[in-house]
Amino acid sequence: MAIRKVAVMGNPILRRKAEQVPPDQISSPRIQALIDDMIETQREYGGIGLAAPQVHEPLAIVALGLDNPPTDDGEDSSYFPRMVLINPKITEFSTQMEADWEGCLSVPDLSGMVKRSVAVTVEGLDRHGNPVKVSAEGWMARVFQHEIDHLHGLLYIDRMGDLKTLSFNRELSRRGVETPAE
Ligand code: NI
Repeated sequence: MAIRKVAVMGNPILRRKAEQVPPDQISSPRIQALIDDMIETQREYGGIGLAAPQVHEPLAIVALGLDNPPTDDGEDSSYFPRMVLINPKITEFSTQMEADWEGCLSVPDLSGMVKRSVAVTVEGLDRHGNPVKVSAEGWMARVFQHEIDHLHGLLYIDRMGDLKTLSFNRELSRRGVETPAE
């Protein structure tokens, strides 16, 4: 396993549409190694999710979630279990939307408020090629939408209605705002 370098805004790889992974290639050493590296890179950079184009691979793979639930008493609303989805597609969006802060490993040091559907259903394949269907709400639904946007060459700033909330994380933290990296 290896930690890969994360592409940052301005790199054209982030604006390309990712290619679907042929299901018969999912078990190949190349794809399995990429998945392992994505998980390790996500851990290293401290993100809640990572899409393959962020590590310079134009393929429709996302890794998201965290290894362990928080152990102390402090509630960590950012936790949900780690998962990998290949060729993911959002098949249902709630019409109800909600705005919240988002950050991105490919847009370092910044966060902005983004309006997203509060619930989504996502279908795709797991790393063994088995079909999966996940229903997510709230924060997890937001992370799915953010990561799957990466597969379409979109960044969260493209989803901001206006840029007035785009802020430096160091300024937000002074005001007690938690800033996730996706
Ligand atoms: Ni991101």
